[in-house]
Amino acid sequence: MRFPKRTLYCGEVRPVHVGHRVTLNGWLARVRDLGGVLFLDIRDHTGICQVVIRPSEQPELASLTRSLNPESVLWVHGTVRLRENPNPALPTGEVELLVEALGVLNPSLLPPFPLSDEATLTEETRLRYRYLDLRRPRMQRYLRLRHRAYQVIHRYFDRHGFVEVETPMLTRSTPEGARDFLVPSRLHPGRFYALPQSPQLFKQLLMVAGFDRYVQIVKCFRDEDLRADRQPEFTQVDVEMSFVEREDIFQLIEGLFCELWQELLDTELPVPFPRLTYTEAMTRYGSDKPDLRYGLELTTVTDLFTNSAFALLRNAAAAGDTIAGLRIEGGAALSRRELDELAEVVRPYGLPGILWLKYDASGWHSPIAKHLSDTEQEALRERFRVQVGDLVLLAAAPWEPCYTALGALRHHVARRLGLLQSALPTWRFVWITDFPLLEYSATEGRYVARHHPFTAPVEEDIPLLETTPERVRAQAYDLVLNGEEIGGGSIRIHTAELQQKVFTVLHIPPERAEAQFGFLLEALRYGAPPHGGIALGLDRIVMLMTGAESLRDVIAFPKTTSGLSLVDGAPAPVEPEQLEELGICLRMPENSP
Ligand code: AMO
Repeated sequence: MRFPKRTLYCGEVRPVHVGHRVTLNGWLARVRDLGGVLFLDIRDHTGICQVVIRPSEQPELASLTRSLNPESVLWVHGTVRLRENPNPALPTGEVELLVEALGVLNPSLLPPFPLSDEATLTEETRLRYRYLDLRRPRMQRYLRLRHRAYQVIHRYFDRHGFVEVETPMLTRSTPEGARDFLVPSRLHPGRFYALPQSPQLFKQLLMVAGFDRYVQIVKCFRDEDLRADRQPEFTQVDVEMSFVEREDIFQLIEGLFCELWQELLDTELPVPFPRLTYTEAMTRYGSDKPDLRYGLELTTVTDLFTNSAFALLRNAAAAGDTIAGLRIEGGAALSRRELDELAEVVRPYGLPGILWLKYDASGWHSPIAKHLSDTEQEALRERFRVQVGDLVLLAAAPWEPCYTALGALRHHVARRLGLLQSALPTWRFVWITDFPLLEYSATEGRYVARHHPFTAPVEEDIPLLETTPERVRAQAYDLVLNGEEIGGGSIRIHTAELQQKVFTVLHIPPERAEAQFGFLLEALRYGAPPHGGIALGLDRIVMLMTGAESLRDVIAFPKTTSGLSLVDGAPAPVEPEQLEELGICLRMPENSP
């Protein structure tokens, strides 16, 4: 098809072009028909330009335009002139194009929704017509910022001597971590590839291979239950380095974020980012991904109640539970109903409720105040630095649920009090370090790796592997931004002996370790250098940078929360012949459609 090609993008037309004859290619965003004059908004990804048709002089063009649906594709040729009524809200608002010729390149069906940023649409409609949703200015902005992030990342790592290497997408299933997506093998019936949950082992092999510094922007696949901050396929900026310690990785990654924020958001980030150990993060913020944009720190008061006359708290302390709480400035004004609502927040963490104490000029007011001695009341006041009008919420429970529940309460209260409603975004990065190496899985009846089984223990804790494995700290770290985990990594185990020891603690029998990870153990014996790395969640980073509400907004073709791709209808049944060839026979669950 031959047609007049654009000489300018729609969003580029400015007063300097007045008197110029220009051609635009774009979509018909809107027609305003004032009878004596027709105003068309022509749009491409750069913006909108107003185009004028005078029906009295151009009757055919006017009737052609009146017959078109919005989103029809046009070329328009005309002369730029100043507008009589400029629109300061538009970058092209001082000018308009007086049409001389116009052609329809493809008429559109009536779109199922208006393509403005303001339109409120269901997620289902947006994903079903994703090509229209993506035509909207906001979505264009998000994906173009994502593109610029790729460029900054590639340039940054190239400058720092990193080599980008592609690792395989058809890999071996390893039942640690999340569930795998499996791909049946035609040539080896009964065998399966797995899509990688991350290139972890391959990047370690690349270190053994002497690449020294590896990076890859890579798709990873995890068959997990989805949430707003999770997708079954997502993108990591995957990094590995040899002959490094944690600090080297921190510095490198901090430099990357400074460059991203500088180039894409014109914002200078203060470095180094603060660090908190896992224990500090939990005891001060009740979370291993604390949002540091607001204070509301937790206070631990177990020691105040070891000899209390108040049995509830004394028994909790004696049983080894933690007693901790949160002070809410001015919270004494909360109603009974609002306090009940707070109790609901902690219930999912296994706490029966929350104890509340209000403080006014006459002292504490609380259902438990009468059980507390004067000394305890005074100690509570001091510990929480209570002022008249404040509220203190106390929880008593085992260490982890106690802090996690208070963390959820902290998050809830911050939102209720509107502590985040500042016009400007605040960027609070924090490294979380010294995670426990293992956690006990009650369902599996064994210790499992908190990060992954290739993470090195803190050296001085290695002897504890045999005695008290739960106390072993890992050389693992997460990077958290505004309460979202945007990266995680570790220093790795680089000797086969220690790797085997950790497999033993994880109750992975030697035969299984050999079958699944034998290639790694072997490679570690051929001169594996000390190495470590990190993987950053690119989708989450772009989501935070753009202010998008969900990961889906920064992924061109995401899955719904139930894992469906609404554009192409995946996952979909396949032909019986395809299954036959793969040696697969389906046994459908009873309630399947
Ligand atoms: P990890 O499992 O912590 O580490 O993943 C690294 C980062 O990837 C992001 N992420 C996700 N983003 C969107 N959807 C998901 N389902 C999803 N899962 C994870 C998070 C997370 O911090 N191999 C190790 C890294 C290493 O040790 O170097 C790994 O994959 O932002």
